[in-house]
Amino acid sequence: MAGAIGKRMEVVKQKIQSFSDAPVRSAHALIQDQFGRSFNYLRIALNEQCNLRCIYCMPEEGIAFRTEDKLLTTDEIFRIIELTARLGISKIRFTGGEPLLRKDLPKLIRFANNTIGVESIHLTTNGLLLVKHIEQLEDAGLTGINISLDTLKPEKFKVITRRDGLNLVLDGLEKAIQSGMTSIKINVVAMRDFNNDELLDFVDLTRENDITVRFIELMPFDAHQIWKTGKFYGADHIVSDLKRQIKDLESVDGSRTEHHIFRVKGHKGKLAVIPAYSRSLCGECNRIRLTADGKLLNCLYSQEETNIRDAMRSGCSDDEIGKMFRKTMWKKFQDGWDAQNQGNDQRESMTQIGG
Ligand code: GTP
Ligand code: 5AD
Ligand code: SF4
Repeated sequence: MAGAIGKRMEVVKQKIQSFSDAPVRSAHALIQDQFGRSFNYLRIALNEQCNLRCIYCMPEEGIAFRTEDKLLTTDEIFRIIELTARLGISKIRFTGGEPLLRKDLPKLIRFANNTIGVESIHLTTNGLLLVKHIEQLEDAGLTGINISLDTLKPEKFKVITRRDGLNLVLDGLEKAIQSGMTSIKINVVAMRDFNNDELLDFVDLTRENDITVRFIELMPFDAHQIWKTGKFYGADHIVSDLKRQIKDLESVDGSRTEHHIFRVKGHKGKLAVIPAYSRSLCGECNRIRLTADGKLLNCLYSQEETNIRDAMRSGCSDDEIGKMFRKTMWKKFQDGWDAQNQGNDQRESMTQIGG
């Protein structure tokens, strides 16, 4: 652990040195939209493949996964990280599919960590492979991990993910908590008649651990539309259920998706509720999304895609690609409802968006 911290300090020192040599980034360089929002957070999906089959995400048989030649290569992702950092991106999150299934993940983290302007690098993972890789990830410069975990009960885990593996995920969580990374969070997709009876068990994890447990609304991105089956549990209801069950909740600060955020007095960690479907968080949006096959989305609910991969493969310059980022983000709708209303979503799984 001491070795990893030492190495990280070295990278920080190098970064400070290179910052002082770098030209000052002018305010107009930031990526902005017509409603005054600016975007400093890039979410890059690395694949569509996954080693679980969560019922709200993917059918048992999987989906028509894109072939490898359609996905962004390591060098293409390097290039995007570098050019978007020059446009003001300071936070990068790798998502999937399951990003730990991609062999170049440590390389990508290391590259982002050595890129001027990038201040934090995060991962959203189902946690199954964390135990195996976490040291390597930390060593490469990863600063935060969000682990998807919807139940603490082995039998329910099997129902929701259609696979075994709760203990592996819990071991991964334990290792993440013990690591030197600054941000460890658990993403719980909250569902009625499935895990609404486990709210307090999850809250209990924040007692001794400096982590954030986030309850997320179910969204309509799966082929089987399980969100229509009565499982939807709205953010306002989750918040009122938490307030009813826990007396000592105080409001604290969190990230932009953590629209409702609390701490139980005396607990080390925090609790959040993410209104991913009801979308009261859109006014605060600072996120840009890149799908695994290199399409730029200006909203999670956007139907329109800008093909950055083909632009790169057809020889466009960094300047031209940068303009595509700016133009796409400028056109962002005011909220996810307007974005969704532009067309009929044909996607079969959240993995085709990247979460
Ligand atoms: P932090 O940076 O730690 O706040 O993470 P995050 O919430 O940005 O990322 P994560 O990948 O952990 O996503 C958690 C949940 O929030 C997922 O279900 C996402 O789909 C949802 N989410 C993330 N960004 C957005 C967004 O822009 N709009 C909506 N509606 N939901 C989002
Ligand atoms: N609704 C809500 N959250 C979802 N996720 C995947 N599919 C859905 C859905 N249909 C979550 C995962 C993970 C994050 C990236 O997205 O559980 O935490
Ligand atoms: Fe895999 Fe995440 Fe989809 Fe579950 S939600 S099947 S863990 S990509």
